Amino acid sequence: MKYKIKNICCIGAGYVGGPTMAVIADKCPNINVEVIDINKERIDDWNNKDFEKLPVYEPGLAEIVKRCRGRNLHFSNLLEEKIKNADMVFISVNTPTKTKGVGAGKASDLKWVEVCARQVAQFARGHTIVVEKSTLPVRTAEVIKSILESSQSSTLNFSNNPSFDVLSNPEFLSEGTAINDLTNPDRVLIGGDRKDAIEALCEVYRNWVSEEKILKTNVWSSELAKLTANAFLAQRISSINSISALCEATGADVREVSRAIGSDNRIGSKFLDSGPGFGGSCFKKDILNLVYLSEYFGLPEVGDFWKGVVELNSWHQHRISKLVVKNLFGTVSGKKISILGFAFKANTNDTRESAAINICHDLLEEGAILSIHDPKVEKWQISKDLGSKYLNPINNDYINENNNSNISEWSFCSTIYQAVKGSDAILILTEWDEYSFIDWERVSKMMRHPAWVFDARSITKPEQVIKFGLNLWRIGDGYERPTGDIKI
Ligand code: UDX
Ligand code: UDX
Repeated sequence: MKYKIKNICCIGAGYVGGPTMAVIADKCPNINVEVIDINKERIDDWNNKDFEKLPVYEPGLAEIVKRCRGRNLHFSNLLEEKIKNADMVFISVNTPTKTKGVGAGKASDLKWVEVCARQVAQFARGHTIVVEKSTLPVRTAEVIKSILESSQSSTLNFSNNPSFDVLSNPEFLSEGTAINDLTNPDRVLIGGDRKDAIEALCEVYRNWVSEEKILKTNVWSSELAKLTANAFLAQRISSINSISALCEATGADVREVSRAIGSDNRIGSKFLDSGPGFGGSCFKKDILNLVYLSEYFGLPEVGDFWKGVVELNSWHQHRISKLVVKNLFGTVSGKKISILGFAFKANTNDTRESAAINICHDLLEEGAILSIHDPKVEKWQISKDLGSKYLNPINNDYINENNNSNISEWSFCSTIYQAVKGSDAILILTEWDEYSFIDWERVSKMMRHPAWVFDARSITKPEQVIKFGLNLWRIGDGYERPTGDIKI
């Protein structure tokens, strides 16, 4: 084999870079893995002696970091040194949606990717394989390539005589199950145009992934496949959420509809759970990116098709806030509503694009007083997401001090029972396991009646809730229940 990989460097120690590199280090003891990031605090957190305090919460991650950190897995800010020593550099930095300029609101902002390409161009020595790990618009590899190639002819890095290959190797992990997804992937996708470089990356994965699961394509197919995979997954959620509204209107039950359609092999049963709308860092961003690309390439009908998936998601979230208000006699002003779950899904502390953000905003605008509980999301993060004044736990400074908005009527509660005390309604937004073991008798006694439970995740057992005099609304449940009658 032409290139043997001994030193890997990954730029970006986030939700993707951190867990992915931890698994590579674990599975490839003969490869030294260096994760670098411009954010010093994040690196300090990855190096924290307390493994419970790593910056990313993922089941199983702390154990791997414990095994590998200091052995062949290292976290630092030593950009120049680590790039210089690397045979392979993964780019795993964030690519947010552009907020201004051409493509604002849709296109991905590639400024960080470009910065990384320039850093690699400046510091690399000898032959370096650059791997796009971040989800990127189609043809980004071309941009990276031209930046890298310019360094070969510039005087900046001329003496090191660098040469490069660029591969696309998108990550398909889901948060909350990242370690399992990485250790047992459905497939590993590698896009490239030079056999030697593709082979070098295949060899890394062969340490734990079987050959038939490693798919090789050209670079553009690989980039587009990643966007398409996320768009298809998100589309299923918008589809089933649209049906949940119809179920509520017609007396059908979305769980029964999901089961019925999911048993058709061609449809399949996964990703058919109706909920409060999809969140996470990828779905919305990637679909908007697809919309932008379609429009850019003169295919507005294709763009409109995918735009509908995002629009439905946003409509669905507002639909939930509206029906909470409607059921609480048309007003929530001054009423206490308990929010159970703030993360965009269970088993993660990530709140990016979480449905809870839009729904809480709506309810706060309506004058509700929220008591929020989440087992993994911290108070400062919620403050940041809701845009209100909050205390930064790191330096005890107030952030958003000049924020004059009046949307600060919320509190953070460390237990479920603290959160529900005196509330008029409970709204379940994340499917945390502990919410399926709530003692509804105890809860009912603590609430102000008539009291409501709004279950946007189908995590409650209806009979367990209504038997204690609580009114229940479940997502996509058109069944007419008698309203709660206080018998306790
Ligand atoms: C994800 C995916 O990697 C990507 O596919 C998607 O396009 C965006 O979100 P994620 O790991 O979840 O990225 O992002 P994040 O947790 O924000 O981590 C990115 C890290 O890159 C940050 O820690 C940031 O400080 C770092 N970074 C960014 C650098 O080290 N250098 C830069 O120039 C820019
Ligand atoms: C997603 C993709 O699944 C993953 O392959 C890609 O690499 C990154 O984006 P992630 O965002 O971590 O992963 O989580 P995912 O499990 O896909 O959930 C996304 C959102 O959809 C969550 O808000 C989740 O609650 C919601 N969802 C998922 C539903 O509402 N119903 C479902 O049936 C499945």
